[in-house]
Amino acid sequence: MSGRSFLQIPGPSLVPERVVRAISQPLIDHRGPQFAALLGEVTRGLKDIFRTVEGRILLFPGSGTGAWESCIVNTLSPGEKVLGCVNGHFSELFCRTATAHGIDVERLEIEYGAGVPAEQIEQRLRRDRDRQIKAVLVVQTETSTGVTSNLAAIRKAIDAANHPALLLADVVSSLGCNDLRFDEWKLDVALTAPQKGLMLPPGMALLAVSEKALEANRSAKCARSFWDWQPVLASNVGGHFPYTPATALLFGLSESLKMLSEEGLENVFQRHARLAEACRRAIAAMNLKLFAQNPAEYSNTLTAVAMPDGLDSDAFIDHTLKLVDLPLGKGLGKVKGKLFRIGHLGSLNELELLGVLAGVEMALKSFGVKIPLGAGLAAAETYLLETAKKRSPL
Ligand SMILES: Cc1ncc(COP(=O)(O)O)c(C=O)c1O
Repeated sequence: MSGRSFLQIPGPSLVPERVVRAISQPLIDHRGPQFAALLGEVTRGLKDIFRTVEGRILLFPGSGTGAWESCIVNTLSPGEKVLGCVNGHFSELFCRTATAHGIDVERLEIEYGAGVPAEQIEQRLRRDRDRQIKAVLVVQTETSTGVTSNLAAIRKAIDAANHPALLLADVVSSLGCNDLRFDEWKLDVALTAPQKGLMLPPGMALLAVSEKALEANRSAKCARSFWDWQPVLASNVGGHFPYTPATALLFGLSESLKMLSEEGLENVFQRHARLAEACRRAIAAMNLKLFAQNPAEYSNTLTAVAMPDGLDSDAFIDHTLKLVDLPLGKGLGKVKGKLFRIGHLGSLNELELLGVLAGVEMALKSFGVKIPLGAGLAAAETYLLETAKKRSPL
């Protein structure tokens, strides 16, 4: 297909040209001084994005799934109990990773489409008088449902219960898309992958870890080798890794962190919030329903749209790809066939979003959904105009 390609799944997001160019630089010696400087730069940049001064950054080749594993095996021991908050496909898998390592996961079941209720965490932790629960597992933005839970409230709930549990947070679909404050919210682990808000190709696992998590690491008994934090932290002191790192991705990460810093983190969040709201207004004007239930929990990273009754969203997504070459996210796990997901994360602007919405409208109409063509676009355009920054005249 000619023209710009679209990739509107909720990650990987499209990799910006600047990052592509950075990745295609000639490789350098990963044991040399140039690499040490690169690692220092990337680590400092990530600390700013995680909003941490005290937290330590850990980078691995891998993916978000690997980051779950690294988080679990470094902080816990087989047989220990955790409270796993399950409100979608990815939180389910996070908990499954813990179970696979012999952790006793007590599930806090939450309806798909809802966020994690902080008050239920507080109640459960208050009942845990002999402090059996070692950690709370939570996904900040559940990419399968388009719901962002309130991590600050969850931290308050743990504190209100005066409970020492670690707060282990998956921020894969949040970092670089919406507010995240590692230090202020006293997160113990925030784990992520680079293919979402960080605008990189997939291929890494990234973690910020607190002093308390490092203390837990010292006594954690889960078997670990590749994912072990200690050899990485020790090598990082000299600017290196105990294995061959993903050098090209680190070039890309250094560039994407520069881009985020040039735009300013608050502006990045506002851009995501504005495009997300425009998308939601378009969906409402198409008379379709969001899958997320509570407006305070609507994700700014993606919008999950409930497929009208009787229609299969997988078939609709296949149809959209054939019609306008627009990949959308499918319903995962329990919600397979029930929703489609529009990613509006990473490097995206308003005209690109409007292109996506036009494609969605055309695809819905030709798929047999009774929608007024152009109504969604008009709603999004109206909102974008109302909230447009005034540009100074030339
Ligand atoms: C919230 C969340 N956590 C974890 C993952 C798993 O990451 P990966 O696919 O990079 O292993 C994803 C993937 O989309 C995700 O959205």
